[in-house]
Amino acid sequence: MPEIQLKCENVWKKFGGFEALKGIDMDVKEGEILGLIGPNGAGKSTLLNLINGIYPPTEGKITFRGAEISGRKPHEICRLGISRVFQIPKPFYEMSCVENVITAIVFNSDVDLPDADEKAFKLLEFVGMRYPERRPDEVTLQDKRRVELARALACEPKLLLVDEYMAGLNPSEVGEAVELLRKVNKELGITLMWVEHVMPAIMGLAERVVVLDHGVKIAEGTPEEVVRIKEVIEAYLGTDTAVEA
Ligand SMILES: Nc1ncnc2c1ncn2[C@@H]1O[C@H](COP(=O)(O)OP(=O)(O)O)[C@@H](O)[C@H]1O
Ligand SMILES: [Mg+2]
Repeated sequence: MPEIQLKCENVWKKFGGFEALKGIDMDVKEGEILGLIGPNGAGKSTLLNLINGIYPPTEGKITFRGAEISGRKPHEICRLGISRVFQIPKPFYEMSCVENVITAIVFNSDVDLPDADEKAFKLLEFVGMRYPERRPDEVTLQDKRRVELARALACEPKLLLVDEYMAGLNPSEVGEAVELLRKVNKELGITLMWVEHVMPAIMGLAERVVVLDHGVKIAEGTPEEVVRIKEVIEAYLGTDTAVEA
């Protein structure tokens, strides 16, 4: 049995009177690829925001490799080994792609120039970015996502939180992105907790899936198991054919 890497116990998040997460209990195992699915507004991104310290939980406890991290700041959590790929890439547009990655390395690790420079080019090569010297507004969405991923890898995370990495990519780009995330997991040994709407990608890559709806965990299991659960079909998939879409 793989060890538990991240543990959420009775995690609540309230925004004013609105309960975005209602008592989430879940684990992420060392080395696995965990998919997090559910309808829009289910609380998926909010859960990632609590894990990487953007907000403190209103109640409950989050533990990473045995140490409580709930309420810590994102830069501290990054140093502990949790990094995040945001749904909407927000690079520094006045810098080149490689300068963006260098900046992430210098801020989030103990590596300084000129080693950071070399490391940034290596990371961009690893993610398949062919235009490191271009500015982010001169590259495709797929390449922006690659740069965002390289930035997230800068602090050498043990756990990578990935939010809708496939959104807006065409089917062949989705195939490449699936292979890239697989490579991050298998070659770098990084655990993935991955929010995604593109179901074929989830079905092909996730080893386990957690399903949220209205801030509640409604199911958990292998991808094949969860897509057959009545509550998941009703809340999210709609019909069986949604899985094939
Ligand atoms: N900072 C915030 N302030 C108020 N409401 C928020 C905030 N962040 C998220 N929410 C609300 O919490 C719910 C869950 O949002 P989110 O976690 O982004 O959903 P998902 O990622 O599953 O689509 C939504 O109703 C959203 O409007
Ligand atoms: Mg979201």
